Amino acid sequence: MEDLSAITALVAPHLKAYDEIFKAGIKGNVPLLNTIAKYMVRKKGKQIRPLFVLLSAGLHGQIDEKAHRGAALIEMLHTATLIHDDVVDEAWQRRGLFSLNAVWRNKIAVLIGDYILSRGLLLAIDHDAFRQLKIVSDATREMSEGELLQIEKTRRLNITEEIYFEIIRKKTATLIAACCALGAEAAGADQDAIRRMYHFGEKTGIAFQIKDDLFDYSEGIASGKPTGTDLKEKKLTLPIIYALRTCSWQERHQMMHTIRLFRKDPERAAKLYQQVASLGGVEYATRKMQEYRDEALQIIDSFPSSPYGTALQNLVRYSTDRNR
Ligand code: IPE
Ligand code: IPE
Ligand code: MG
Ligand code: MG
Repeated sequence: MEDLSAITALVAPHLKAYDEIFKAGIKGNVPLLNTIAKYMVRKKGKQIRPLFVLLSAGLHGQIDEKAHRGAALIEMLHTATLIHDDVVDEAWQRRGLFSLNAVWRNKIAVLIGDYILSRGLLLAIDHDAFRQLKIVSDATREMSEGELLQIEKTRRLNITEEIYFEIIRKKTATLIAACCALGAEAAGADQDAIRRMYHFGEKTGIAFQIKDDLFDYSEGIASGKPTGTDLKEKKLTLPIIYALRTCSWQERHQMMHTIRLFRKDPERAAKLYQQVASLGGVEYATRKMQEYRDEALQIIDSFPSSPYGTALQNLVRYSTDRNR
C-alpha cells in the first residue's frame, strides 16, 4: 500500500469540502499572512489526518459538515505544529520546499503557527463543537509535552526505549488518535466506540512515527525532508537505542563518542548509521512498527465490516509502507 488514491476516492467530495474550510481558515486580514498562506498551499502534505477523521466518521455513521470542520481543525493544528517544529529543529526544508523559518525567519514562523492554531480552535468554538475542542486541546497539550520531553532527553543522551515510546506517543500518536476519536464523535458513535477508535489511532500513530524515524536511515529517498538530521540534532531514535542496548560496552563507548563529538561529520555519521543497521537496529525498529500496525488493524476488525473500515486499514498500511 504505497498510494493513497483508492482511499481518497472513497471520500473525494468530503475531502473537497474539508479543503475549502482549511484554505479559508488560514487566510486573514493581513497581507503578509496571505502571502504566506499562498506559499503554504502550494505544497500540501499527505493529508492523512483529515483522511483518518473522515473515514472514522464514515465507519460510525454519516460524514457531514461537523466531520469536515473537524478534519480542517486537525489539519490546521498539525500545520501549526510543523511550523513550530521546524523552528525548534532549525529545519530548513519541509514538503520539498523551504520551511517558513527558512524563508521568513523564526519570528514570523512562530506567529504564523500561533495564528493558525487559534483560527482552528475558533472554528470549533464558533460551531459550539466543545467535544471536538476538548479532544483537540488534549492532543495539543500532549504534543507540547512530547516535544519538551524530547528536548530534555536529547540533551542528556540517556534515552531508554520506554522513554522513546512515551515521546512518540505524545508528540505524534495523540494527534492521530484525536483524528479517529473526533471522526467517530462527529458521526454520533457511543463512548466505548470513541475510546476504541482513539486506541486505534494511537497504535497507528506510533507505527507512523517509527516509520518517520526509519527514514533517517534510508539515504537518498524523496521524503521531502533532509535525511540524517536526527543524529545531527542528537535525537536518538529506536534503531540506535536498540543498537546501543545490545552491543558490547566497547562498541557502545565508541558509538557514544561519535554521537557526542562527531555527529556532524558526514563520514563518521554514515559509519555510525551502518553500524546501527548491522547491529540489527533497523530490523528491530521495523519489527516493532509492524507489531503496532497489526494491533491497529485488529481494532478495526472488531467493528462491523465496511468499506470505510477497509480504507482505514489500508491507510494504516500506507503509514508503514509509504516512501514520503
Ligand atoms: C510529519 O507528519 C510530522 C510527524 C508526525 C512525523 P506528516 O508526515 O503527516 O506530514 P505531512 O503533513 O504529510 O507533510
Ligand atoms: C514531528 O516531529 C513534529 C511533531 C510530531 C510535533 P519530528 O521533528 O520528528 O518530525 P519531522 O521529521 O520534522 O517531520
Ligand atoms: Mg522536525
Ligand atoms: Mg522535532
